[in-house]
Amino acid sequence: MGQPVEVRVLPSALYREAILFRDRTEPKYGESHMNDWKPESWTSRAALHQPTYPDQDQLSEAIGELAQLPPLVTSSEIESLKAELAQAAVGERFLLQGGDCAESFAECASSVITNKLKILLQMSLVLVQGTQRRVIRVGRFAGQYAKPRSTKDETRDGIALPSYFGDIVNRPAFDERSRRPDPWRMMRGYERSALTLNFIRALIDGGFADLHHPEYWELDFVKHSPRAKEYYETVRKIGESVRFMETLTGISVADLSRVNFYTSHEGLLLPYEQAMTRQVPRRNGWYNLSTHFPWIGMRTAGLNDAHVEFFRGIRNPIAVKIGPSIEPAMLPEFVSRIVDALHPDDEPGRLTFIHRYGASKVAEHLPALIKAVHATGRTVLMVCDPMHGNTRKTAAGIKTRSFEDILQELESSISIHAECGSHLGGVHFELTGDNVTECTGGARGLTDDDLQDGYRSLVDPRLNYEQALEMAMLIANRLVPSS
Ligand code: PEP
Ligand code: CO
Repeated sequence: MGQPVEVRVLPSALYREAILFRDRTEPKYGESHMNDWKPESWTSRAALHQPTYPDQDQLSEAIGELAQLPPLVTSSEIESLKAELAQAAVGERFLLQGGDCAESFAECASSVITNKLKILLQMSLVLVQGTQRRVIRVGRFAGQYAKPRSTKDETRDGIALPSYFGDIVNRPAFDERSRRPDPWRMMRGYERSALTLNFIRALIDGGFADLHHPEYWELDFVKHSPRAKEYYETVRKIGESVRFMETLTGISVADLSRVNFYTSHEGLLLPYEQAMTRQVPRRNGWYNLSTHFPWIGMRTAGLNDAHVEFFRGIRNPIAVKIGPSIEPAMLPEFVSRIVDALHPDDEPGRLTFIHRYGASKVAEHLPALIKAVHATGRTVLMVCDPMHGNTRKTAAGIKTRSFEDILQELESSISIHAECGSHLGGVHFELTGDNVTECTGGARGLTDDDLQDGYRSLVDPRLNYEQALEMAMLIANRLVPSS
């Protein structure tokens, strides 16, 4: 890895050009290309949103050390998730993916982790009940530490320092030392991910997520939620069904009802992802063992760029975020080419598109995306992220999102999929199990002025516990399968 990793952040007009028109003359991806793929192949491509590490020797040393450490997840877990996602793609399961915009090293703490697990479990229970489908639970956690930034540097009072790229790269404080990208923070990120996963696995093995005992994952403030009554009713119905099944069949549903949790993060920081990508005995190909389900962010989905190059070589199920910067007219070519690069064999469960258009743009863009996917003849799981297209700034300059816009984008997406002969196969939220005030609206009617009371996110605003549960309740009944 001798290549300097360079930051290249393009202005948005140029970004659109880059997506489709960069290096049009380059050879198309194909089988023969795959033979030459290596975890470091991406270094020959343009790598956007990467930090500039001042010391390349330290970077190589950190990558080398990481590559020796045990994996965080296993290839058999990855293959199980892929099989479940394949079922979601054909409407037999539903994906719930959620967590922080960015995890922070400081919040790798017992209560933060359990609260996130609890809210995801509660939401999934509500979605199981509403959709009558099994829900796949995927946390945006145990590795969600790197962030794309709109500018390479941040300037305050005439002083320019590198932007904060997430805890795995540098620190948020605005001073030279904190902002200097440090490759050894990848080691700290790996360790935090391992600590988080270890705790989650132990909780689940110990029965924390057992459907017989939803009281284990009740959050203190559920009692005070305006939706408490509805939630308890859902829990009661599920409990009844579990007992009914056991009585009827004489079989304990303990195994069936013990839920799985999978992990995901944006596979942004390529030196880290590369170091965690390994060959596994008795399996073909390479697995990224840093997480089960990595995704390519909207800003790094350039067809001939480094992220697509890296992702095409790994065997994990993968997702790509798709937003309004790729205009409807560009979608047929973009979708056909990215599907050829990432999903050439139509392997079940391999590819997910996470669309994030915003409530006001979804009607203009989503039909064209669905049509372009149909035209490829391949199966892609379609998921909506209703957060990233709905970000706005308050008069006081605080980044927020309104509950109503988020709900509106989800409701529109559900209808548009149905009208276009597709179906919404999952949802992707930024949320927390804590009582923050970062998004407006919801049953408590948080206003712009309330945001300062409990705004903790360093990057994007998250739904708080009550808003997340309410959102699950409002969409669950809209997601009942038609057949
Ligand atoms: C994110 O998921 O935090 C993110 C940056 O999203 P997107 O790539 O969709 O903008
Ligand atoms: Co975000």
